[in-house]
Amino acid sequence: MTRARRAALVTGASRGIGREIAGRLAEEGFDLMLSARGGDALREAAAECGKRGGTHVRTVPADMAVEDDVRRVIDAHRTAYGRLDLLVLSAGVGSAVPLGSYPSHRFDRQFAVNVRAPFLLIDGCMELLRHTAPARIVAISSIAGQAPEPRLAAYAASKAALTALCEAVNTEASADGVAATAICPGYVDTDMSAWNHDRVPPAEMITSGDIAELVITMTRLSPRAVVPYLPVVRTGSQLWRA
Ligand SMILES: NC(=O)c1ccc[n+]([C@@H]2O[C@H](COP(=O)([O-])OP(=O)(O)OC[C@H]3O[C@@H](n4cnc5c(N)ncnc54)[C@H](OP(=O)(O)O)[C@@H]3O)[C@@H](O)[C@H]2O)c1
Repeated sequence: MTRARRAALVTGASRGIGREIAGRLAEEGFDLMLSARGGDALREAAAECGKRGGTHVRTVPADMAVEDDVRRVIDAHRTAYGRLDLLVLSAGVGSAVPLGSYPSHRFDRQFAVNVRAPFLLIDGCMELLRHTAPARIVAISSIAGQAPEPRLAAYAASKAALTALCEAVNTEASADGVAATAICPGYVDTDMSAWNHDRVPPAEMITSGDIAELVITMTRLSPRAVVPYLPVVRTGSQLWRA
């Protein structure tokens, strides 16, 4: 008997952490649906997954701040594969702005991409996840949700909400074989953290490969094991900091 091919949907797959997760999943033999806004970068990511062993790699450009786009991503995945073993929520945005005159549109955008889209994806995929179970959801949250920093108030609040969302999902769906994990890293060496190179050199940051490895580990656990959240911090004397 050959095992059915597993399928994963990865948001934020065009760059950074999501792209590395997609590559590792390709190596593990997952069929993939990759999403992000940028079509060219997404095609490049898909080509890289092909080189890393991916047999079926499809892309669906979409803006996670737009509800119709989110629904299109879910439909594209369901139509292509009819099963969902792993939902990876890596698309995310952050703005470093001091409190005092924080533009509300920046707050809204971070909550739309970092919280609302993951909620819509989890809700819209739940039937398929339950049908496929055992299945996993892995959201790339942030240590900022537990140990915030100045100027990142909205980002930290959005990531705290995302982590809480994963915990809540487990209370409702883990008994049906659908477990969620919020991975909560400190600074990871990607485009997103480049603004902070003066303070934290890239060589001191966590790698995308480290995060991808944890995602693969989640897929190897038995369905009995639920990991609600997973902090990943940098070396140094301060444990709880980004
Ligand atoms: N890097 C860090 O230090 C760090 C630390 C902790 C947590 N995280 C979290 O890890 C996740 C991945 O971050 P990263 O470091 O890989 O960032 P990144 O290199 O900037 O990549 C972000 C990804 O999200 C996509 N994205 C952004 N806005 C989007 C939107 N509106 N709709 C659809 N896709 C969108 C981007 O593609 P397009 O721009 O083409 O849409 C890209 O694929 C994020 O949730 C981030 O908050 C990062």
